[in-house]
Amino acid sequence: MPKNLQDTVKLNNGVHMPWFGLGVYKAQEGDEVVSAVKAAIRAGYRSIDTAAAYNNEEGVGQAVREAMEENGLRRDQLFITSKVWNSNQGYETTLQAFETSLNKLNLEYIDLFLVHWPVKGKYKETWRALEKVYKEGKVRAIGVSNFQIHHLEDLLSEAEVVPAVNQVELHPQLTQKELLTYCQGKGIQLEAWSPLGQGHLLKNDTLVSIGKKYGKTAAQVILRWDLQVGVITIPKSVNEGRIIENADIFDFELSAEDIAAIDGLNQNKRFGSDPDNFNF
Ligand SMILES: NC(=O)c1ccc[n+]([C@@H]2O[C@H](COP(=O)([O-])OP(=O)(O)OC[C@H]3O[C@@H](n4cnc5c(N)ncnc54)[C@H](OP(=O)(O)O)[C@@H]3O)[C@@H](O)[C@H]2O)c1
Repeated sequence: MPKNLQDTVKLNNGVHMPWFGLGVYKAQEGDEVVSAVKAAIRAGYRSIDTAAAYNNEEGVGQAVREAMEENGLRRDQLFITSKVWNSNQGYETTLQAFETSLNKLNLEYIDLFLVHWPVKGKYKETWRALEKVYKEGKVRAIGVSNFQIHHLEDLLSEAEVVPAVNQVELHPQLTQKELLTYCQGKGIQLEAWSPLGQGHLLKNDTLVSIGKKYGKTAAQVILRWDLQVGVITIPKSVNEGRIIENADIFDFELSAEDIAAIDGLNQNKRFGSDPDNFNF
């Protein structure tokens, strides 16, 4: 169980990834994303989750460089994730997309690069390209996102490198227990996107009342639950107060009853797209 914001989990290739990070989907390129990332690193965050599709890799890279300078951090103390977008899937196009992400971030390397969605008929070729950049040492770990068990089975039947991470929608109304157990069995670390249900879960009575026992908000209860069930979490905020609030979860522990109550909120409900039925 992580004890602070900088604590890491050892991925299947030995690379250490922070349990907690900042998501920047919908954070506007320019001042908004730069100030959010800098506020997060100032507050002690060490992991940032972006993607080519978020159109803010340049701002993320700029913020990372400025924050390293201002906070006396080395590059190896930070962990940067990006992802290849669907329209660039395929072998050559993914190799190019990786270089574009690296150039936009303007960093020496990327820590984790993910296949953003399991595009049918393409994701295995995309994976081969990720294996190549991984073997060349341009990225420290490679993984997937939005992969269901059958996608992973299919990928693993031919992959040389087992994905280090699978980043999926996961929150109290979509607890993903079957996928979590499957990934744990294969040494694939599960990571939660939209952990706060894009903000929709924060008035939930169960979460609010559990929070009251500990003097914590519903957001903090959810994020603590992620860590206690063994899932990396990357809540998004561009608001400094909420960036700090979301990370203030290392001074309390949810009881087994609380965990069971939160698990019991599952409805297999998605706020985002279904990985078996998306058209982008
Ligand atoms: N791989 C994928 O396909 C995929 C898909 C979606 C997301 N993601 C990643 O996962 C990250 C997180 O998911 P998400 O951005 O969809 O949703 P989220 O983190 O569940 O929720 C973000 C929303 O909640 C608000 N918020 C954050 N903290 C709050 C707090 N303490 N109190 C009240 N409101 C709060 C934010 O607003 P403010 O910013 O105004 O605070 C924002 O509107 C993304 O940024 C992205 O990095 C990945």
